Amino acid sequence: MIKLGVVGANGKMGSQVVNLAINNKDFELVCAIDMFGVGKQLSENVVVEDNLEESIKKHNPDVVVDFTQPSVIYENVKKYIKLGVKSVIGTTGLSKEQVEDIEKMSKDANVGVIIAPNFSIGAILMMKFAAEASKYFSNAEIIEYHHNQKKDAPSGTSIKTAQLMMKNNDNFKLGNCDEKETIKGARGGEFQEDGKGKIQIHALRMPGFVASQQVVFGSDGQILKIHHDTINRECYMSGVEIAVKHIYKNNQFFYGLENIL
Ligand SMILES: NC(=O)c1ccc[n+]([C@@H]2O[C@H](COP(=O)([O-])OP(=O)(O)OC[C@H]3O[C@@H](n4cnc5c(N)ncnc54)[C@H](O)[C@@H]3O)[C@@H](O)[C@H]2O)c1
Repeated sequence: MIKLGVVGANGKMGSQVVNLAINNKDFELVCAIDMFGVGKQLSENVVVEDNLEESIKKHNPDVVVDFTQPSVIYENVKKYIKLGVKSVIGTTGLSKEQVEDIEKMSKDANVGVIIAPNFSIGAILMMKFAAEASKYFSNAEIIEYHHNQKKDAPSGTSIKTAQLMMKNNDNFKLGNCDEKETIKGARGGEFQEDGKGKIQIHALRMPGFVASQQVVFGSDGQILKIHHDTINRECYMSGVEIAVKHIYKNNQFFYGLENIL
């Protein structure tokens, strides 16, 4: 049985992971950490605690799953590596440089880490198909739609999608004429990495959405749209389960669920 710690246990995603840990016979929930809901009883032996390091030292989980917030995630992952506990990171908002740092720290310390901007299988396929289409189109833009409580923009999934697309095509172009924005931001945010091409990302935030994304490709006389909708947060849990079971047996670093499927 895998001893699981959940960080951000009181949140929208964290509470789903708590349910997974309680209801899955392969997992035992041993600690739950959040800055809100401290003292709340989650299972017979587990109450919400707020001191991350103390809680991990006291309960000694095999793996922690982190769904907290962008402003704390980099420091959290450094703590997991320092404490020698394997981690599955669902929290988004890490920069490319931070991901590279974490990869190095994880390898140096030989402590497994999985960072996955998206745990839903449909979203992984959407990214895969977008990467495939990128071999044939050089104009593409991404529209991502999320609930209005999301703190980071654009989403980790849209950035990961753009990175995968650029692996197959380093010549993405924006519109093909001189453009003038009469309202700032009207054309979205420009994603570029390593001096390669550019992909525009548009982030919508409003009640009603959980998480959706559309990748739109255009060339002369044709449009291709690849679209994924998340209807509820349960869709992420099979991916979280796969990630926990994988990292339990591995000490490596992984960025993206697609690398362990
Ligand atoms: N990888 C994925 O598939 C996926 C899917 C959905 C959301 N996310 C990401 O997961 C993160 C959490 O999303 P959410 O919708 O559950 O948010 P949420 O606000 O509902 O939950 C976050 C929880 O973390 C807690 N928290 C924040 N900082 C903390 C700290 N320093 N110590 C302890 N607890 C802390 C908050 O109190 C809250 O309960 C976001 O970054 C979001 O983008 C990832």
